[in-house]
Amino acid sequence: MAARSGGMLLVGLAVATALSACDAFRGTSEPVVDEETAFPDDGLAQTPPMGFNTFNRFFCRPDEQLVRDIADSMVSSGMRDAGYQYVVIDDCWQGWRDGATSRIVPDPQRFPGGMRALADYVHSRGLKFGLYTDAGWRTCQGLVGSYGFYDVDARTFAEWGVDYVKVDWCYADGLTARTQYGEFRTALLATGRPMVFSICEWGSTRPSEWARGIGHLWRTTPDIQDRWESMLANADASARYVRAAAPGGWNDPDMLEVGNGGMTADEYRVHFSLWAIMAAPLIAGNDIRTMPDSIREILVNREVIAVDQDSLGVQGIVVSQPSPDLQVWVKLLSDGSQAVALVNRSGTIADIAVGWSSLGLPTGTTASVRDLWARSDRGLHSDRFAAAVPPHGVVMVRIAGQPAR
Ligand code: GLA
Repeated sequence: MAARSGGMLLVGLAVATALSACDAFRGTSEPVVDEETAFPDDGLAQTPPMGFNTFNRFFCRPDEQLVRDIADSMVSSGMRDAGYQYVVIDDCWQGWRDGATSRIVPDPQRFPGGMRALADYVHSRGLKFGLYTDAGWRTCQGLVGSYGFYDVDARTFAEWGVDYVKVDWCYADGLTARTQYGEFRTALLATGRPMVFSICEWGSTRPSEWARGIGHLWRTTPDIQDRWESMLANADASARYVRAAAPGGWNDPDMLEVGNGGMTADEYRVHFSLWAIMAAPLIAGNDIRTMPDSIREILVNREVIAVDQDSLGVQGIVVSQPSPDLQVWVKLLSDGSQAVALVNRSGTIADIAVGWSSLGLPTGTTASVRDLWARSDRGLHSDRFAAAVPPHGVVMVRIAGQPAR
C-alpha cells in the first residue's frame, strides 16, 4: 500500500510538473522570483542577450587586436544587424591587481591600449562591450578574481564602459553563490551604469530558484563542448527550468559552439534551433572573422533568431516524444503562432509529426506552416504536420492557425 501511494504521489508530481511547465510555456504562470532578494527590473535583457564571447574558440588567448577584428566582423558579416550586440572578453584579459588602487590591471602584453580604448572601439562599431571576472579569489584559469573587491571592480568596469559582466564561480570554496552574486549585483547597481549581469555557477546551486532578479542570465549547466552529446546534454538540463525564464532573466545552457568544427552542419542547426526554441542567450563562440557562409547562414538566420527573441519570452518545451530519440519542441510566440522544432536525435532519417492537439489547436483548424531553415512556406494543414527529418537533424517551422471564415 505504501509503495502504491508512493507511486501515485510520483505520478501526481509528474503531472503537476508537466502542468506547470505547460502553464509556463503558455506564458500564464509567473516566473520563479524571490521578492526578498530581487532587485527592481532595470529593463535590460527583455529578450535573451545576443553577442560573441572569446572563450569557446580562443580559450585563454584573447587580445586587443582579436577583439577589434571580431567587432569589425560582427558588422561585415551581418551579425550585428541580425541582433548580436555584446562582444565579451572571457577569462585571461587580467594581469594583476594593483596594490595602490586595488584595481585590476589588464595584461599589458595582450591589451596594451587598455580597456577603455577597446570599449570605445567596440562602441564605435555600434556594439556593446563585455568583460569576465570571478566571484571567488581566482578565475577558472587562475588569474586574479574579484572576491573582496566587487565594489572597486564594478566601478572600474563602469569607468571602462563595460555593458555586460560575466561572473564565474571558481576558487569560491566556502562562499554562498546567492550571497556573492547578490553582492556583486549591488555593486554593479551602485555604479549607475546599466550592465547585463551573467551568472556563471554552472547550475551548481540551482540558480533557477534564486537568480531571477539578481542576474539577467544564469548558467544551468557545466561547460558546453563542441560535441553533439555535450550540446544535447546541456539542452536537456536547461529544459528542466522552464518556469524560471521570462523577460529580464534567462536560463543559459552555455555559449554557442556553432562553427567550431566538432559537429556537422545539421548538428549545428539542431544546436541553434534548440537554443532558439528554449529562449537561450545566443552568444556566438566561433571565429567569425573566417567563418564560411554555411556557418554564417546558421548564425544570421533571422527567422530562427526571431523565435529566440520573441517578446513573449517563454522557454519552449518538449510536447511529445514519439520515441526516445525523436522529439517535438514547441515555443509559443507573441502573435499566437507557435515555433515547432522536430528534432531527430537518432542516426537514421525519421518521419516526425506534430499534431494540432499538442499545440492546443482544435482538429480541423487550418494552419499555415513556414519552414524556418528552408525559408519557404509548406502550405496549409488541417490536423497535423509531418516531415522527414535527417539523422542528427531538425525541421523547424512556425505554425499559425488561420482565422475561421
Ligand atoms: C568556466 C566557465 C566558462 C569560461 C571559463 C574561463 O569554465 O564556465 O564559460 O568562462 O571558466 O576560464
